[in-house]
Amino acid sequence: MELTDLKHSVETAEASALERLRGADSVDSVRRLENEVLGKQGSVGSLLGRMTEYPAEIRGQVGKLVNEAKTRIKEHFAAKLATIQSAASARDETEAKSIDPTLPAPVQPMGGVHPVTAVQWEIERLFERMGFTVEAGPEMESQYNNFEALNIPPTHPARDMQDTFWLKNGCVLRTHTSPVQHRSMKKFGAPLRVIAPGRCFRYETIDASHENTFHQVEGLLIDRNIGLPHLIALAKTLLTEVMKKEVKLRVRPGFFPFVEPGIEIDMDCQICGGRKCPTCKQSGWVEILPAGMVHPNVLRAGEIDPEEWSGFAFGLGLTRLAMMKFGIKDIRVLNSGDLRALAPPDRLSGTVIS
Ligand code: PHE
Repeated sequence: MELTDLKHSVETAEASALERLRGADSVDSVRRLENEVLGKQGSVGSLLGRMTEYPAEIRGQVGKLVNEAKTRIKEHFAAKLATIQSAASARDETEAKSIDPTLPAPVQPMGGVHPVTAVQWEIERLFERMGFTVEAGPEMESQYNNFEALNIPPTHPARDMQDTFWLKNGCVLRTHTSPVQHRSMKKFGAPLRVIAPGRCFRYETIDASHENTFHQVEGLLIDRNIGLPHLIALAKTLLTEVMKKEVKLRVRPGFFPFVEPGIEIDMDCQICGGRKCPTCKQSGWVEILPAGMVHPNVLRAGEIDPEEWSGFAFGLGLTRLAMMKFGIKDIRVLNSGDLRALAPPDRLSGTVIS
């Protein structure tokens, strides 16, 4: 090979490299091109590898020629990189300047308290204003407190395996908040005004309106000359306050061993406005407040004299009430971690989550 041939190859390779470099517009493409030109296999880089094809006496000149070309090309690449980088940082700077710090920050999605908690707090405040104490009993409860003390004999179906989670230590997961009635009687004696919100558990098949884990609010008022009208008036106040509108009540007889007489207080379905829907099982009414006058046996178990004192108790279905208030059609949403149920109450209100 002749030196003139080499000169020619170097010139062509260099010219085409610079031509392609002009078209490169990113750091990445410049670097890729650099490798294609100057790398071992590159259009210029590979020329050094072919040194042996030249007579020994001109190999020094070959090396010089190629290396000089490499140096020149490198300078062009470096200059191009610098141009691209400074253009990029100028762009960043204008972007930074275009941020207006006086604008309001982008709105982050905000959570809220759980619907059941929200209603629970509301009820607690309401009853505190009426002189009630808020008590909390344990979720793991003795059989005695959950059943016997409430006049539920061992043969009562409420104890059936289908309903109750029995624990290996002989206790149960409380099936209702009513054991707190007994605990409060023993703790405070009469007269007494107490509510006890909390979680309860039943061995239930889960569907849109049944959960194995749900919330109730127990209410207990013991004083002299207390009768059903006090209870019904209180129920009306309670439900109207929570629903923020006058609700319709329906009172039916109901049986619970710990009250006599026992009643069921129903509310007109707030999901369909009483027009009948799946949530109210096409009846227009929902069972919301089972209640009654405290059974003398329960007072006696709580060491309160039934000759002197009388009282009423109720077991508000807190979960169901929260569903009614916020238009949640499916109970499973509440324990599922569904974030839609945790929207702030003002946004949750009126949305029907099914
Ligand atoms: N504890 C009953 C239940 O869970 C409800 C209830 C409470 C009924 C107080 C009457 C009085 O079904």
